[in-house]
Amino acid sequence: MESQNSSRSCKNLFIAVVLMTLFSAIFYMYYEPSVNWLNCPAVPKHDVCGNICINALKTPNQIQIVNNTCMVNFTSLRHQLTQTEAASSQGGDLDTILLIWMWPFGHPFDLGLCSSMYNIHGCHLTVDKSQFNKAHGVLFHHRDIYGDLSNMPKLPRPPIQKWVWMNMESPSNSGQRSNLNNLFNLTTTYRHDSDIMVPYGRISENTGGKKHDEIPHKNKLVCWIVSNWNSDFKRSKYYEELKEHISIETYGNHFNRRISAKDYSDVVSSCKFYLSFENAIHQDYITEKLYNPLSLGTVPVVLGPPRKNYEEFIPGSAFIHVDDFNSPKELAEHLKLLDQNDDLYRQFFTWKEHFVARTSFFGPEQACHACDHIRRNKNYRVVNDLNSWYWG
Ligand SMILES: *[C@@H]1O[C@H](CO)[C@@H](O)[C@H](O)[C@H]1NC(C)=O
Repeated sequence: MESQNSSRSCKNLFIAVVLMTLFSAIFYMYYEPSVNWLNCPAVPKHDVCGNICINALKTPNQIQIVNNTCMVNFTSLRHQLTQTEAASSQGGDLDTILLIWMWPFGHPFDLGLCSSMYNIHGCHLTVDKSQFNKAHGVLFHHRDIYGDLSNMPKLPRPPIQKWVWMNMESPSNSGQRSNLNNLFNLTTTYRHDSDIMVPYGRISENTGGKKHDEIPHKNKLVCWIVSNWNSDFKRSKYYEELKEHISIETYGNHFNRRISAKDYSDVVSSCKFYLSFENAIHQDYITEKLYNPLSLGTVPVVLGPPRKNYEEFIPGSAFIHVDDFNSPKELAEHLKLLDQNDDLYRQFFTWKEHFVARTSFFGPEQACHACDHIRRNKNYRVVNDLNSWYWG
C-alpha cells in the first residue's frame, strides 16, 4: 500500500516535472511563470518515472503540498537535474551521445526519457560539456545562442560531430541571423523540411486499449486565451469581428484575466470550442494551441495555414477552420447551431475511438529524436544557408 502510494505520487511528480517544462517553455509568453514553485496540473498518465522525481521525493524541501496540490521546487530541481546527470553513468560505450549545449529557454528536463517515452534506445543525452570531444552530436537552441556566438563551443569540432539547430518558433518570431550559416549539420524544427521534424503535438493510434473519455462537461461556448496581443495580427482582427456575433470567454494577460498552468486544463475542457488562433501564419506552424484542446476534449476552431495543411496531421473532422466560412459572422452562426445540436457536436469526437492526441514535450522530444537520427544516419551534411532556408 505504502509503496503503491509512493509510486503513484512519484508518477504524478514525474508528470509535474514534464509538464512544468512543457508549460513553462511553450507558455513562456503567456504565463510568465514564477520559477520558484510550480504546481502539477492533471494530465493523462504515463508509465514512466525518472530518477529525478524519485530523488526529489527523497529530498526534503523539494516538494510541498499546498491545497492538495503538489508543488515542486523548481530552482533546486534544476540544480539537481544537472548534478544527478553528471553523477550518473556515461552510458554504454556504443551509445550515441548527444550533448545539450544549453537548456532551451533555460528550462531543464529529464535526460533519461528517450527509451521510456519514445522507445529510442542507444542514446545518451548529457549536459556535461566535458563530454564535448566524445559527443556525436551537439544540440543548440536558437533563442539561446548569443548574438556574437560567444556562448558557442570554442574547441575545434571533432570531424564526425554533428551540430543540431533547434527552433520551434516560426520565422516571424525568430530573430534572423546571418552568422549561423555554415555552422550546423542538422535542423530540428516543427517544419516538414527539417532533418528531424518534431511537431507541437501528435494524433496517434490509441494503443493503450483504454476506451476514450467522455466529452468533458461544458459550461462555456467559445473560449480564447491570449497574452501576446498585437492588433496587426490576423487573429486579432478576426476576433474583433467574431465577438460581435457570439460571446467569447477570454483569458490571458491581454484581457487582464491570467490563468495559472493549474487552471488551464479545467478552463479549456469546460469550453465547447476553443479558438486555436496562431500568432503567425506559416506552413506546418500548428502549435499546442491546437493539440491542447484536442487532448482536453474541446473542439478547436483554427486560424493558421490552410485546412489542407492541418489535414496532414489531424483528421479533417476533428476541427473547424475559419476558412470554411465566408465571414466571422457565418462562423458564429455555425457555432451556435452546433451548440444546439448535440449529435452534430459529438461528431467532432469520433476520431477519439481509435486515436489519442497529445502535446509534445518541448525539449526531450527534440533531443531524443535528434540523437536517434544521428545514431541511424551517418551521412555527411551541412546546413550552409540556414538563413535563406528558414527566413527566405
Ligand atoms: C558539419 O558541418 C560543418 C560546417 O557547418 C562541416 O565543417 C563539418 O564537416 C560537418 N560535419 C559532418 C559530420 O557532417
